[in-house]
Amino acid sequence: MQSTYEFSLDVARRAGALIAEKRRNEPLQRDFKGGIEIVTQADIAADELISEAIRATYPNHQILSEESSPDLGRVQDIRGPLWIIDPIDGTVNFAHGLNQSGVSIAFVNEGQIQHGVVFNPFSDELFAAQRGCGATLNGTPIGVAEESRLDRAIIATGFPYVKTGLEPMIKRLSVILAECADIRRLGSAALDICFVAAGRLDGYYESLSVWDYAAAQLIAKEAGAVYGHFGDVPEGDDPQFCSADILVANAALFEPLRALLRSASDNAAV
Ligand code: IPD
Ligand code: CA
Ligand code: CA
Repeated sequence: MQSTYEFSLDVARRAGALIAEKRRNEPLQRDFKGGIEIVTQADIAADELISEAIRATYPNHQILSEESSPDLGRVQDIRGPLWIIDPIDGTVNFAHGLNQSGVSIAFVNEGQIQHGVVFNPFSDELFAAQRGCGATLNGTPIGVAEESRLDRAIIATGFPYVKTGLEPMIKRLSVILAECADIRRLGSAALDICFVAAGRLDGYYESLSVWDYAAAQLIAKEAGAVYGHFGDVPEGDDPQFCSADILVANAALFEPLRALLRSASDNAAV
Protein backbone atom coordinates (compact mmCIF):
# COMPACT_ATOMS: atom_id res chain seq x y z
CA MET A 1 0.00 0.00 0.00
CA GLN A 2 1.16 3.55 -0.82
CA SER A 3 2.34 5.60 2.20
CA THR A 4 0.89 9.10 2.81
CA TYR A 5 4.28 10.45 1.68
CA GLU A 6 4.25 8.59 -1.65
CA PHE A 7 0.62 9.60 -2.09
CA SER A 8 1.50 13.29 -1.59
CA LEU A 9 4.33 13.15 -4.16
CA ASP A 10 2.01 11.57 -6.67
CA VAL A 11 -0.84 14.06 -6.07
CA ALA A 12 1.54 17.05 -6.21
CA ARG A 13 2.82 15.84 -9.59
CA ARG A 14 -0.72 15.34 -10.88
CA ALA A 15 -1.87 18.79 -9.68
CA GLY A 16 1.28 20.33 -11.15
CA ALA A 17 0.64 18.69 -14.51
CA LEU A 18 -2.91 20.05 -14.42
CA ILE A 19 -1.88 23.67 -13.81
CA ALA A 20 0.89 23.49 -16.44
CA GLU A 21 -1.57 22.03 -18.95
CA LYS A 22 -4.11 24.74 -18.18
CA ARG A 23 -1.56 27.45 -18.71
CA ARG A 24 -0.43 25.94 -22.02
CA ASN A 25 -3.85 25.22 -23.48
CA GLU A 26 -6.53 27.40 -21.90
CA PRO A 27 -7.16 31.12 -21.83
CA LEU A 28 -6.57 32.58 -18.37
CA GLN A 29 -9.73 32.75 -16.25
CA ARG A 30 -9.15 34.90 -13.21
CA ASP A 31 -11.02 36.58 -10.40
CA PHE A 32 -9.99 38.81 -7.50
CA LYS A 33 -10.76 37.66 -3.94
CA GLY A 34 -11.88 40.65 -1.90
CA GLY A 35 -11.30 42.72 -5.04
CA ILE A 36 -7.51 42.40 -4.56
CA GLU A 37 -6.10 38.87 -4.35
CA ILE A 38 -5.90 37.09 -7.69
CA VAL A 39 -7.31 33.57 -8.04
CA THR A 40 -7.45 31.64 -11.32
CA GLN A 41 -9.55 28.74 -12.52
CA ALA A 42 -6.36 26.64 -12.26
CA ASP A 43 -6.10 27.38 -8.50
CA ILE A 44 -9.65 26.08 -8.05
CA ALA A 45 -9.14 23.03 -10.29
CA ALA A 46 -5.87 22.02 -8.60
CA ASP A 47 -7.45 22.47 -5.17
CA GLU A 48 -10.32 20.19 -6.25
CA LEU A 49 -7.98 17.55 -7.65
CA ILE A 50 -5.91 17.40 -4.45
CA SER A 51 -8.85 17.61 -2.03
CA GLU A 52 -10.83 14.93 -3.90
CA ALA A 53 -7.83 12.59 -3.97
CA ILE A 54 -7.37 13.00 -0.20
CA ARG A 55 -11.08 12.50 0.52
CA ALA A 56 -11.14 9.34 -1.64
CA THR A 57 -8.00 7.84 -0.08
CA TYR A 58 -8.16 9.11 3.51
CA PRO A 59 -11.83 9.88 4.26
CA ASN A 60 -11.12 10.52 7.96
CA HIS A 61 -8.37 13.09 7.41
CA GLN A 62 -9.02 16.83 7.62
CA ILE A 63 -8.08 19.27 4.87
CA LEU A 64 -6.95 22.86 5.27
CA SER A 65 -6.78 24.26 1.78
CA GLU A 66 -6.37 27.84 0.60
CA GLU A 67 -9.18 27.84 -1.96
CA SER A 68 -11.79 25.39 -0.60
CA SER A 69 -11.34 25.15 3.19
CA PRO A 70 -9.12 27.92 4.54
CA ASP A 71 -10.84 28.39 7.93
CA LEU A 72 -10.28 25.49 10.32
CA GLY A 73 -9.08 27.66 13.21
CA ARG A 74 -5.63 27.38 14.79
CA VAL A 75 -3.69 24.48 13.28
CA GLN A 76 -2.17 23.60 16.65
CA ASP A 77 -5.69 22.98 18.02
CA ILE A 78 -6.66 20.53 15.26
CA ARG A 79 -6.58 16.91 16.40
CA GLY A 80 -5.94 13.98 14.05
CA PRO A 81 -4.30 13.81 10.62
CA LEU A 82 -4.41 17.05 8.66
CA TRP A 83 -3.43 18.00 5.10
CA ILE A 84 -2.39 21.61 4.42
CA ILE A 85 -2.61 22.62 0.76
CA ASP A 86 -1.69 25.57 -1.38
CA PRO A 87 -2.83 24.47 -4.87
CA ILE A 88 -0.75 27.19 -6.56
CA ASP A 89 1.77 29.18 -4.59
CA GLY A 90 2.81 32.01 -6.87
CA THR A 91 -0.54 32.67 -8.54
CA VAL A 92 0.49 36.15 -9.71
CA ASN A 93 3.46 34.58 -11.51
CA PHE A 94 1.21 31.84 -12.92
CA ALA A 95 -1.25 34.40 -14.26
CA HIS A 96 1.53 36.44 -15.84
CA GLY A 97 3.33 33.57 -17.54
CA LEU A 98 6.25 33.64 -15.10
CA ASN A 99 7.53 30.20 -14.21
CA GLN A 100 8.07 30.57 -10.46
CA SER A 101 5.02 28.83 -9.00
CA GLY A 102 4.09 25.45 -7.66
CA VAL A 103 1.89 23.11 -5.68
CA SER A 104 2.46 22.78 -1.93
CA ILE A 105 1.17 19.86 0.17
CA ALA A 106 2.02 19.19 3.84
CA PHE A 107 0.83 16.40 6.10
CA VAL A 108 0.51 17.03 9.84
CA ASN A 109 -0.05 14.29 12.41
CA GLU A 110 0.48 14.12 16.16
CA GLY A 111 1.16 17.86 16.20
CA GLN A 112 4.13 17.69 13.80
CA ILE A 113 4.61 18.27 10.09
CA GLN A 114 5.42 14.72 9.01
CA HIS A 115 6.18 15.34 5.36
CA GLY A 116 6.01 18.11 2.78
CA VAL A 117 6.27 18.48 -0.98
CA VAL A 118 6.57 21.57 -3.19
CA PHE A 119 6.42 20.88 -6.93
CA ASN A 120 7.10 23.43 -9.67
CA PRO A 121 5.81 21.86 -12.91
CA PHE A 122 7.34 24.62 -15.04
CA SER A 123 10.89 23.77 -13.99
CA ASP A 124 10.00 20.14 -13.20
CA GLU A 125 11.50 20.54 -9.72
CA LEU A 126 10.07 18.55 -6.85
CA PHE A 127 11.29 19.51 -3.38
CA ALA A 128 10.34 17.05 -0.66
CA ALA A 129 11.08 16.00 2.90
CA GLN A 130 9.98 13.51 5.48
CA ARG A 131 10.57 14.34 9.14
CA GLY A 132 13.96 13.02 10.23
CA CYS A 133 14.97 11.85 6.74
CA GLY A 134 16.57 14.94 5.12
CA ALA A 135 15.31 16.96 2.15
CA THR A 136 15.58 16.24 -1.55
CA LEU A 137 15.22 17.94 -4.93
CA ASN A 138 14.07 15.46 -7.57
CA GLY A 139 15.28 12.69 -5.27
CA THR A 140 18.79 14.10 -4.69
CA PRO A 141 19.66 15.32 -1.15
CA ILE A 142 19.89 19.12 -0.72
CA GLY A 143 21.43 21.36 1.93
CA VAL A 144 21.63 25.04 2.84
CA ALA A 145 24.38 27.35 1.58
CA GLU A 146 27.55 27.84 3.61
CA GLU A 147 27.58 31.63 3.29
CA SER A 148 28.33 33.34 6.59
CA ARG A 149 28.80 36.95 5.48
CA LEU A 150 25.79 39.24 5.39
CA ASP A 151 27.41 41.36 2.71
CA ARG A 152 27.60 38.30 0.43
CA ALA A 153 24.10 37.04 1.24
CA ILE A 154 21.15 37.08 -1.19
CA ILE A 155 17.91 37.44 0.74
CA ALA A 156 14.38 36.88 -0.58
CA THR A 157 11.15 38.29 0.74
CA GLY A 158 7.61 39.03 -0.39
CA PHE A 159 4.77 41.42 0.22
CA PRO A 160 1.10 40.95 1.08
CA TYR A 161 -1.72 41.63 -1.38
CA VAL A 162 -3.24 44.23 0.95
CA LYS A 163 -1.09 47.34 0.90
CA THR A 164 -1.69 48.63 4.41
CA GLY A 165 1.13 48.86 6.94
CA LEU A 166 3.86 49.19 4.31
CA GLU A 167 6.14 51.36 6.44
CA PRO A 168 7.69 48.64 8.65
CA MET A 169 8.18 46.44 5.55
CA ILE A 170 10.04 49.22 3.77
CA LYS A 171 12.24 49.79 6.83
CA ARG A 172 13.13 46.11 6.86
CA LEU A 173 13.87 46.19 3.12
CA SER A 174 16.06 49.19 3.67
CA VAL A 175 18.27 47.54 6.35
CA ILE A 176 18.50 44.29 4.40
CA LEU A 177 19.47 46.11 1.22
CA ALA A 178 22.06 48.19 3.10
CA GLU A 179 23.70 45.26 4.92
CA CYS A 180 23.28 42.29 2.56
CA ALA A 181 24.48 41.68 -1.00
CA ASP A 182 21.03 41.89 -2.64
CA ILE A 183 17.31 41.17 -2.41
CA ARG A 184 14.99 38.97 -4.50
CA ARG A 185 11.17 39.05 -4.73
CA LEU A 186 10.52 35.88 -6.68
CA GLY A 187 6.77 35.58 -6.02
CA SER A 188 6.34 32.15 -4.41
CA ALA A 189 6.99 31.90 -0.69
CA ALA A 190 7.01 28.08 -0.76
CA LEU A 191 9.68 28.05 -3.48
CA ASP A 192 11.65 30.85 -1.77
CA ILE A 193 11.91 28.70 1.36
CA CYS A 194 12.83 25.64 -0.74
CA PHE A 195 15.50 27.75 -2.46
CA VAL A 196 17.03 28.50 0.96
CA ALA A 197 16.89 24.73 1.60
CA ALA A 198 18.72 24.09 -1.68
CA GLY A 199 21.38 26.78 -1.06
CA ARG A 200 20.18 29.00 -3.92
CA LEU A 201 19.21 31.78 -1.52
CA ASP A 202 20.90 32.61 1.77
CA GLY A 203 17.84 33.79 3.66
CA TYR A 204 14.15 34.55 3.42
CA TYR A 205 11.68 36.49 5.57
CA GLU A 206 7.98 37.40 5.32
CA SER A 207 4.62 37.07 7.11
CA LEU A 208 2.49 34.38 5.47
CA SER A 209 -0.50 32.02 5.74
CA VAL A 210 0.04 28.46 6.93
CA TRP A 211 -0.54 26.90 3.47
CA ASP A 212 2.31 29.02 2.05
CA TYR A 213 4.95 27.58 4.37
CA ALA A 214 3.82 24.28 5.99
CA ALA A 215 5.51 21.97 3.45
CA ALA A 216 8.49 24.23 2.74
CA GLN A 217 9.19 24.68 6.46
CA LEU A 218 9.91 20.97 6.89
CA ILE A 219 11.95 20.90 3.66
CA ALA A 220 14.09 23.79 4.97
CA LYS A 221 14.56 22.28 8.43
CA GLU A 222 15.46 18.90 6.97
CA ALA A 223 17.99 20.61 4.67
CA GLY A 224 19.73 22.11 7.72
CA ALA A 225 18.16 25.58 7.76
CA VAL A 226 17.23 27.41 10.91
CA TYR A 227 13.52 28.16 10.60
CA GLY A 228 12.15 30.67 13.10
CA HIS A 229 10.82 34.18 13.54
CA PHE A 230 12.31 37.65 13.78
CA GLY A 231 9.34 38.85 15.82
CA ASP A 232 8.20 37.36 19.12
CA VAL A 233 6.00 34.28 18.88
CA PRO A 234 2.92 34.95 21.05
CA GLU A 235 2.86 32.97 24.30
CA GLY A 236 0.99 29.68 23.88
CA ASP A 237 1.46 29.62 20.07
CA ASP A 238 3.25 26.67 18.51
CA PRO A 239 6.15 28.26 16.55
CA GLN A 240 5.68 25.68 13.76
CA PHE A 241 2.37 27.30 12.87
CA CYS A 242 3.12 30.92 13.73
CA SER A 243 2.64 32.80 10.45
CA ALA A 244 3.98 36.26 11.35
CA ASP A 245 7.57 37.41 10.87
CA ILE A 246 9.01 34.17 9.52
CA LEU A 247 12.79 34.01 8.99
CA VAL A 248 14.68 31.13 7.34
CA ALA A 249 18.46 31.01 6.88
CA ASN A 250 21.50 28.87 7.52
CA ALA A 251 22.81 28.67 11.08
CA ALA A 252 25.52 31.30 10.51
CA LEU A 253 23.18 33.94 9.09
CA PHE A 254 20.02 33.38 11.10
CA GLU A 255 20.96 35.43 14.18
CA PRO A 256 22.59 38.35 12.30
CA LEU A 257 19.53 38.56 10.02
CA ARG A 258 17.18 38.34 12.99
CA ALA A 259 19.03 41.18 14.71
CA LEU A 260 18.89 43.31 11.55
CA LEU A 261 15.17 42.74 11.03
CA ARG A 262 14.45 43.40 14.71
CA SER A 263 16.39 46.64 14.57
CA ALA A 264 14.20 47.75 11.66
CA SER A 265 11.06 46.77 13.55
CA ASP A 266 12.27 48.65 16.67
CA ASN A 267 12.90 51.73 14.54
CA ALA A 268 9.47 51.37 12.95
CA ALA A 269 7.82 51.44 16.35
CA VAL A 270 9.46 54.74 17.41
C1 IPD B 1 1.66 34.32 -2.22
C2 IPD B 1 3.09 34.04 -2.65
C3 IPD B 1 3.94 35.27 -2.52
C4 IPD B 1 3.92 35.84 -1.12
C5 IPD B 1 2.48 36.08 -0.68
C6 IPD B 1 1.65 34.82 -0.80
P1 IPD B 1 -0.24 32.88 -3.49
O1 IPD B 1 0.87 33.14 -2.31
O2 IPD B 1 3.65 33.02 -1.84
O3 IPD B 1 5.29 35.02 -2.82
O4 IPD B 1 4.63 37.04 -1.10
O5 IPD B 1 2.55 36.49 0.69
O6 IPD B 1 0.31 35.10 -0.43
O7 IPD B 1 -1.30 33.92 -3.33
O8 IPD B 1 0.46 32.98 -4.77
O9 IPD B 1 -0.72 31.52 -3.16
CA1 CA C 1 0.47 30.94 -1.30
CA1 CA D 1 -2.27 29.99 -3.54
